[in-house]
Amino acid sequence: MVVRAAGPVYRLRRHRPGPAQLRHRRDRQPAYPQHPSWPAQPGTALPARPDPRRPRRGRNPTVTQPQTISPPRAATGREVVLEVRGLDVDYGFGPDAVRAVSGADLSLHRGEVLGLAGESGSGKSTLAYALTRLLRAPGVITGGQVLFHSRPQGADAAPPETVDILAADAKELSRIRWSELAVVFQSAMHALNPVARIDAQLTDVLKAHRRQMSAAERRERAVELLRMVGISADRLRSYPHELSGGMRQRVMIAMSLALEPQVVIMDEPTTALDVVTQREILEELMQLRERLGFAVVFITHDLSLLLELADTVAVMYAGRIVERAGAAELFRAPRHPYSLGLKGSFPSLRGERVRMEGIPGSPPSLRSMPGGCAFHPRCPFAMDRCATDIPQLATPARDLTNSQGGGGVTQSTSRVSACWLQDGQQPAPEALALPLPTRLIPGSR
Ligand SMILES: Nc1ncnc2c1ncn2[C@@H]1O[C@H](COP(=O)(O)OP(=O)(O)O)[C@@H](O)[C@H]1O
Ligand code: SF4
Ligand SMILES: [Mg+2]
Repeated sequence: MVVRAAGPVYRLRRHRPGPAQLRHRRDRQPAYPQHPSWPAQPGTALPARPDPRRPRRGRNPTVTQPQTISPPRAATGREVVLEVRGLDVDYGFGPDAVRAVSGADLSLHRGEVLGLAGESGSGKSTLAYALTRLLRAPGVITGGQVLFHSRPQGADAAPPETVDILAADAKELSRIRWSELAVVFQSAMHALNPVARIDAQLTDVLKAHRRQMSAAERRERAVELLRMVGISADRLRSYPHELSGGMRQRVMIAMSLALEPQVVIMDEPTTALDVVTQREILEELMQLRERLGFAVVFITHDLSLLLELADTVAVMYAGRIVERAGAAELFRAPRHPYSLGLKGSFPSLRGERVRMEGIPGSPPSLRSMPGGCAFHPRCPFAMDRCATDIPQLATPARDLTNSQGGGGVTQSTSRVSACWLQDGQQPAPEALALPLPTRLIPGSR
C-alpha cells in the first residue's frame, strides 16, 4: 500500500507533472481493501468508502450512518480514538528509498496525552505528518493503517464513525482535519501567514468549517479563542511579526482548538521558546485539555518534559518505537538502554549535582542503518546478537513476573520494549531491571 504525498489538489493544468515525472509515482495501485499486502482486520467491518451521493454530514439529519469498527478499550476502560498499526514511511522512490519510520504501532485514548520522544532525526515528525496525511514528497507511506474513531459530542453532532485515514479521499480528509484532528507545528512563524492579521487567520478557519456562523459570531469566537490562550482581544488586529514567539505559539494553539477537535497533534510546540514561556503555555494547554477533553500526541526531544506532561510515552530511535510505557513507569524503571540514556541526559532539579553522561555518538544516517538493533553501536550493553537480529517490541520478562513474586507469567503493565536484554534469557543490568513501585502495578495494593 502506498499513499501519495500531500500536494495541491487543484493544480493548474500547465503545472501537472508530465509522464517522465510520473514514472516513479506509485499512485495507480489498487485501493484498500483490494491490495494483497493490506493486513486483514479479524472480526471488524471495513470502513465504508465515501459515497458520492451521500449528503454532507451536519447538513442533513437523515444522513446514513457510516460503517464503524468498534474502537478497542484500554484496561482503564478508556476508548481508543486514534490507532496506528504497522506504519511504514519511506523517503524517495525505488532503489533510492530510505525508511524513516518502520512498523510504528500506537494507540491514543480519549483525553490522553501520548508523548513521542527521541533525538532529532528519529522520525517523530515523519510519523506525525504521515498519520495526518500531511507528508510531502519525497515522503511515501508504504504500509500500515491509521484509524480515527470519531465520536463527535454535542446535541447536533454527527454520528460516530471510523475513518481509515490512509484510504480517505481529499474531501473526507479536509472534513476531518482541523475540525476533528488538528495539528500544531513546530514553528509558529512558518505556520502562520505573515501577511494576514491574526483575526483574519482565526476567522478563516471558522469560515471554512462553520459556514452557518455569521461574521459577528466568528469574530466573537476569535476573541474567545485568544482569551482562552491568555491573549487579550486587542491583539486580534496584529500581524504575526508583531507578536512574541510565545504569543505566536499560543495563537497556533488557539487556532488548533477553534473547532474543538478530538485529537491535537503537537510537534515540538514549545521547543523554540524559553523555559518560563514554555511552562506557562504547557500549563495552559493541560488546563484546556481538562476542560475540553481532547487527546494529544505531544512530540518532543525532551523526555523530561514528557515525564511530567504525558500519560503514556513512546520512545523512538532510528524510525522505530523502542519502548512504550506509562510515563511514571518509564521514569521510575526504564527497560530500554536508549530510554535510560535519554533519561540520564537531563539534569534533575533536586538531589546532588552529578556529571551528565548523555548518549555517546549520534543517531545513524538512514542511508547506512546498522544491522540488527540500530542502537547497538551506541549501546553500553550490546551483545553479539544485537548486531545481527532486530529485537521486536515485547513485554519485558521482568514485568511479566513482577506481579507474581518472580514465578508467574501474568503481564503486569502494558509496557513494551524492543531489547534483547529484556527477553529473560540473561539477567538484565540493574539499571534496566528496577522494580516498579507497587502502586504502578495494576491489581496490586
Ligand atoms: N524531505 C526529506 N527527504 C529526505 N529525508 C528526510 C526528509 N525529511 C526528513 N528526512 C529524514 O527522515 C529522518 C526523520 O526525520 P524527522 O521525522 O524530521 O525526525 P525528527 O522529527 O524526529 O527530528 C531523518 O533522518 C531525516 O533526515
Ligand atoms: S538490543 Fe542490544 S544493542 Fe539494542 S538496546 Fe538492547 S542491548 Fe542494546
Ligand atoms: Mg521533528
